[in-house]
Amino acid sequence: MNAENIKAVDPEIYNAVKCEEERERSKLLLIASENYASRAVLEAQGSIFTNKYAEGYPSKRYYGGCQFTDVVENLAIERAKKIFGAEHVNVQPHSGSQANMAVYFAVLKPGDTILGMDLKHGGHLTHGAPVNFAGLLYKTSFYGVRRDTGRIDMDEVRSIALKNRPKLIVVGASAYSRILDFAAFSEIAKEVGAYLMADVAHLAGLIAAGVHPSPVPYADFVTTTTHKTLRGPRGGMIMCKAQYAKALDKAIFPGIQGGPLVHVVAAKAVAFKEAMADDFVAYQKAVVANAGKMASALMDRGLNIVSGGTDNHLMLVDLSGLNVTGKAAELALDMAGITANKNGIPFDEQPVTVTSGIRLGTPCVTTRGMGLPEMDEIADIISNMVRNINDSKVSEAMSRRVKALCDRFPVYLS
Ligand SMILES: Cc1ncc(COP(=O)(O)O)c(C=O)c1O
Repeated sequence: MNAENIKAVDPEIYNAVKCEEERERSKLLLIASENYASRAVLEAQGSIFTNKYAEGYPSKRYYGGCQFTDVVENLAIERAKKIFGAEHVNVQPHSGSQANMAVYFAVLKPGDTILGMDLKHGGHLTHGAPVNFAGLLYKTSFYGVRRDTGRIDMDEVRSIALKNRPKLIVVGASAYSRILDFAAFSEIAKEVGAYLMADVAHLAGLIAAGVHPSPVPYADFVTTTTHKTLRGPRGGMIMCKAQYAKALDKAIFPGIQGGPLVHVVAAKAVAFKEAMADDFVAYQKAVVANAGKMASALMDRGLNIVSGGTDNHLMLVDLSGLNVTGKAAELALDMAGITANKNGIPFDEQPVTVTSGIRLGTPCVTTRGMGLPEMDEIADIISNMVRNINDSKVSEAMSRRVKALCDRFPVYLS
């Protein structure tokens, strides 16, 4: 990308930008929460709206000169409403974590009980982890997956909800590869008198394209990030039923944020426009098909996938049977030019800094245009690497294969 002005002002940052471009071009990125935003999204995010202060909401600002900001924010809101069928949308959250915080602040008081998915079973920090504001401010209770199936058991969720009587139930995950049954969660929330919040940070793109069921008809609140499968700028968004609109908007501003990042809101609007195009549906279908292929190709090579496969864009590889840790596998894959993250698996006996698994996702490689044959090739490379840790001959051979793949499927960043 053109960065001549950065080069003139700040050569150190220019170098870092160029190195990052090269890294994203020359590596296979399998981090499930990342993607390659389009040039249009990058341009919007680097636009003149960087300069604008706009505390408040369209037509109700605390600053002058917001007429074009209002155009941007209204477009983002209207597009998101149309894509997801939501009654109310707030596009101002700076991140997924702040989207979740705003929902909690809108309807909970400190000390209230929340029920979320255990971080160790695939949930997110903001669903109640003790080190996060959610665990610090609220009483927490958790559901997880069954040891025998690796899947959420709705009967178990119901009995945990009946026992703990949460005021809010969170459905959503960072490392769960199966369809989330939003209707069943909604039944349980109604039964125990809880609000239901669906955190679809990972799934938003799939939901937008109709390749994963939508929580919008079932949940009081739906939070998401905009930068994962949705392929927009880094940021968050909240959808809710009209009855909560006022409380929610107040929770974001003035509750937990100041001025919106208008340049990021502009980039969200561009990403939503892209998400309305036919090729976006084809892309999301390919993401899911590629993940399914990668999981089956890994299993064909004797690797264990938690829950026996995937219905979405990611999978968790359980390496415990190979006596390889997630940490060692992450390092080995990196030597071959594959970027992935170590990840705890359900009932993991290793500490979180080591883990027994790796999480793999297909959004980035699918954006590059790779398809089923390439997923088979990548699975073969991964299998070779995790079975031959510290074998430099194998890693040299595998990194040649990674390079060949990257050369055949260039990223737009040239
Ligand atoms: C399910 C889920 N919710 C929320 C978040 C938080 O998003 P952010 O990193 O933008 O705060 C993540 C990020 O990984 C996530 O996976």
